[in-house]
Amino acid sequence: MNYRHAYHAGNFADCMKHALLVWLLSAMARKSAPFFVLDTHAGTGHYDLDAVPATRTQEASGGILRLLAAAANDDGPLAAYIALVRRLGLYPGSPSLIEAMLRPDDRLACCELHPDDFLALRQLVARNPAISVHRRDAWEALRGLLPPPQKRGLILIDPPFEDAEEFDNLAKGLILGHARFRTGVFAAWYPIKRLAQVRQFLTAMRDSGVRDIVAASILLREPLDPARLNGCGLLVVNPPFQFEAAAAAILTDLLAAIGTGEPGQGVAIDRLVDE
Ligand SMILES: C[S@@+](CC[C@H](N)C(=O)[O-])C[C@H]1O[C@@H](n2cnc3c(N)ncnc32)[C@H](O)[C@@H]1O
Repeated sequence: MNYRHAYHAGNFADCMKHALLVWLLSAMARKSAPFFVLDTHAGTGHYDLDAVPATRTQEASGGILRLLAAAANDDGPLAAYIALVRRLGLYPGSPSLIEAMLRPDDRLACCELHPDDFLALRQLVARNPAISVHRRDAWEALRGLLPPPQKRGLILIDPPFEDAEEFDNLAKGLILGHARFRTGVFAAWYPIKRLAQVRQFLTAMRDSGVRDIVAASILLREPLDPARLNGCGLLVVNPPFQFEAAAAAILTDLLAAIGTGEPGQGVAIDRLVDE
């Protein structure tokens, strides 16, 4: 396992994923019944953007640091995400954002395989009895931890995409997780480097038999160079009411703040499969 999220924390892909995650969590909280969150690839929970991994790559300067500087977004569709980032201090990873939005009876289970990152996360949330941290394989956890007793849940799947099989793993994991928990809201992040791989993944999901799927994506440029992270997407199964409109507004504002105006930049919200 070579991937360490500390090198990428706060980049545009994190902003995209986390801004949509915050909206999804607020949608889950519309109903009073408690919900469960499974964060299958959790990372360490927060990241010091002034420390060496982040300063070496400078990825946050094209992401959260640029977004925070664009004060105009403070009361727009990104307001809830920006406010949480400001409130939580160190750049919050998905477990910290989720923790901040849990209500007293909601629960969070995090899986993280890297031994150091697992320990860091376990220590970070040790005092919160609503959170369990597992050194457990994400794909196995989709079988083992679903369905949750709460019967309502959000599953965030955020793999590192270190190897070529990750799109396959993701499609299989979504199909398996959905078979275990048909009413769950599944949010799966994917990179857009080369379009062919993304199209193959979306086609596999379209043909999977899983219903009610939307893919929200952002492109910083035309994806001509597969060595670069040209954009990314979040595929959502069972999206909450009004997700498509909210995602369009969030990603459009994000691109306005962090886009560099390169040819081909844009936002797309695609309904892959109807309800
Ligand atoms: C993209 S990072 C997660 C970032 C985190 N979700 C966030 O938004 O703050 C992916 C994480 O998954 C971990 N990981 C990789 N393969 C895994 C697996 N099979 N099961 C669980 N964790 C895994 C990596 O160590 C890494 O910390």
